[in-house]
Amino acid sequence: MEQTEYMLCAKGMTKSFGITRALKGVELYLKKGEVLGLIGENGSGKSTLTSIIAGIQPADSGEVTLCGEAYSVKNSVEANQKGICMILQEKATFDQLSVAHNIFIGNETAFQKGGILDNERMYQEAEKILAELGVDGINPRDKIRDRSFEDGKLVELARAAFLKPRILIVDETTTALSQNGRAILYAMMEKIKKNGGGVIFISHDIQEMMEKCDRLTVLRDGDYVDTIDKPEFSEGKIKKLMVGREIADNYYRGDHVCSYEKEVVLRFEKVTTKHLKEVSLELHKGEILGFGGLADSGMHDIGKASFGAIPILEGQVADKSGEPISNPRESMQKRIAYIGKNRDQESLFPNSPIRDNIAIASYKKLAKSTFIAPGKETAFVQEWAEKLDVKMQNIDQYVMELSGGNKQKVALAKWLGFGADIFVLDCPTRGIDIGVKASIYRLMEELKAEGKSIILISEELPEVIGMSDRIVILKDGSVSGEFERSELLTEHTLINYMV
Ligand SMILES: Nc1ncnc2c1ncn2[C@@H]1O[C@H](COP(=O)(O)OP(=O)(O)O)[C@@H](O)[C@H]1O
Ligand SMILES: [Mg+2]
Repeated sequence: MEQTEYMLCAKGMTKSFGITRALKGVELYLKKGEVLGLIGENGSGKSTLTSIIAGIQPADSGEVTLCGEAYSVKNSVEANQKGICMILQEKATFDQLSVAHNIFIGNETAFQKGGILDNERMYQEAEKILAELGVDGINPRDKIRDRSFEDGKLVELARAAFLKPRILIVDETTTALSQNGRAILYAMMEKIKKNGGGVIFISHDIQEMMEKCDRLTVLRDGDYVDTIDKPEFSEGKIKKLMVGREIADNYYRGDHVCSYEKEVVLRFEKVTTKHLKEVSLELHKGEILGFGGLADSGMHDIGKASFGAIPILEGQVADKSGEPISNPRESMQKRIAYIGKNRDQESLFPNSPIRDNIAIASYKKLAKSTFIAPGKETAFVQEWAEKLDVKMQNIDQYVMELSGGNKQKVALAKWLGFGADIFVLDCPTRGIDIGVKASIYRLMEELKAEGKSIILISEELPEVIGMSDRIVILKDGSVSGEFERSELLTEHTLINYMV
């Protein structure tokens, strides 16, 4: 393609925040008269890249050209002067100022006569701009603090409209807008396109991206992945590029059969805890046993009691030979693993390196006599971090620097390396993006196939239905329903037993 076709070229863009490499050499090419979509999972670098182009922060390295000339700006005002405007993901208006003052912020001199600001003329001009955009019901004299978040975003659009940018960047703005607000934004994008400008558009809504964009550039973990043209757009293809592999629409278990072996590996015998009342149940070898319920149903106590992490007031939790489990040390001896709902507090030491977090459950296994050969530990940790594909700099990186999904992988690596037979997982995919979520489901299937048992406690019913052999619904500390895996089971059915 001819170089001149592109109005904006960014090459080799890098940016780090401390140890986080937000951009690792990314490129972006924007043509005249197009809407270029920028897409990628949370944290892939979309906002960082675009805010660099908009002059909001500097890059560490990289080269940007605008209409064939070197482009470098020190701040957003300079970017505006060169015709580049950005609508930020976050709020970018000032509460104490009026709508009109927000629209013309930084450009007030246009309304000055002899050093005095002509407010009246400013209000009139603001009214004109808002009307041209098709915004009604916003008085230019109103203070922003008296207007809604959406109105604030519309004011930001008016600010951009006043600047008449050649290039408009829109970062995840549509979720804040109503149908009407979206129509206004889309019309503005269309107008810039028609005038031979360009738009860089960011949204999480893949359907919206496919509709509004002419081309899509995909980022993943700070890397440039690919750019595709409209005829190649499909939801499957885009998702695959985003996460780096095919993700089926339904990423839960493919089978609809309840299956497990006869052997009981864990038994609740009339267990009463602070939040449970005489609960009896059995977990079998090779079974995924799901638990659902409202927040106060006691379901989280099922997990804690299985690991001996809370006092059992009456009854007992027994292992396969009938011996009671009353503290985490005993449960570890019985090869039970637990990942709590509050991962950072319950399952990890965020202020320690990945190395210690993975090795901690296995020190006994790694120790020859009383000391651990460092090479052995390194090899062990490396192996499990790699098996779970933890995205990290190296195993000495601190766990607190990892994303939620990678933290969860570290917690799982610890227990897999330890060689647990029973995995008690409380909300294992909470706050985790789709790619890692899918890999956790695959892992659960593998564990089941190996004859391991899983207790899955979850606030997401589709996940419980999608993964479990049997489902137990709890209500007010008691079992209110029990279901076998079936294609016919719906969320609706389960909810009836929860409330
Ligand atoms: N100001 C900052 N300080 C520290 N880390 C940041 C900062 N801005 C972004 N990051 C990190 O850089 C990565 C990319 O973030 P971002 O560009 O916001 O992604 P996206 O917009 O695609 O969700 C993330 O890991 C994020 O946590
Ligand atoms: Mg962002």
